[in-house]
Amino acid sequence: MHQGVFKAHSGTQIAGIVSRAAAPIVVDVALHVVTTATKAADITQKMADDQFAALSKAYAASNVQFNRIATTFTVNDAWAVGAGSDATAMKTALRNGTYRTLNVYFMSDLTGSILGTCSLPSDIGPGTPAPSTYIGDGCMIQANTMPGGNIYGFNQGMTTVHEVGHWMGLLHTFEGYSCTGNGDFVSDTPMQSTSTDGCPSKLAKDSCPQSSGVDPIHNYMDYSDDACYTGFTPGQNKRMAKMWAAYRTGR
Ligand SMILES: *[C@@H]1O[C@H](CO)[C@@H](O)[C@H](O)[C@H]1NC(C)=O
Ligand SMILES: [Zn+2]
Repeated sequence: MHQGVFKAHSGTQIAGIVSRAAAPIVVDVALHVVTTATKAADITQKMADDQFAALSKAYAASNVQFNRIATTFTVNDAWAVGAGSDATAMKTALRNGTYRTLNVYFMSDLTGSILGTCSLPSDIGPGTPAPSTYIGDGCMIQANTMPGGNIYGFNQGMTTVHEVGHWMGLLHTFEGYSCTGNGDFVSDTPMQSTSTDGCPSKLAKDSCPQSSGVDPIHNYMDYSDDACYTGFTPGQNKRMAKMWAAYRTGR
């Protein structure tokens, strides 16, 4: 048994060395803080800096590095809500870089009673499409989810970590809300048929008792609260790398 453990461990080490040696995915990031005039002082440079640090830390184990190219602050009552065409107007004015550049808009009054939303990667067509063809790409996040924000349970910056997972091509661990089917298309996240509220850790939450593993409530791609999250799985890391190679790198 000792021998077996040793062999398995040395195999893991080799895999670890290989993955450490693999070139990291480097993602240029532009952060855009957009507030109403009344809330302009509420969302600070420090919050943006702490958010960037939280994002970088969360993805370090996935071999994804973020390179901040810009942090902008804009006061605009309509853009801070981003309803309908206001979101497009905001992005047309602020979006930086190309399709492989992550643009995150932190809005003080984000429309729709949601904490955030991001676009998934998709095929933007051959050649070098004009930025107008992917102007909607990026993430719109409630600004008070940043570290130091005022949304209880969701103010450690993990909304952005979750949403950027979508931008990198990940789906929810409870995708499809079913115990059968493809779910999130990742094989090492257990089947999960309901999203998670809070962090139900006393009794393990298991929405698909017939399949192996309890609900991955600590996974960044569930809906648990910020303090509950701990990471991505190797399968999710692999999917992000595949999605990056297929849709964003070089674009
Ligand atoms: C993008 O950010 C860089 C670095 O801050 C800046 O020089 C450039 O003007 C920005 N581009 C746009 C389109 O805002
Ligand atoms: Zn989501």
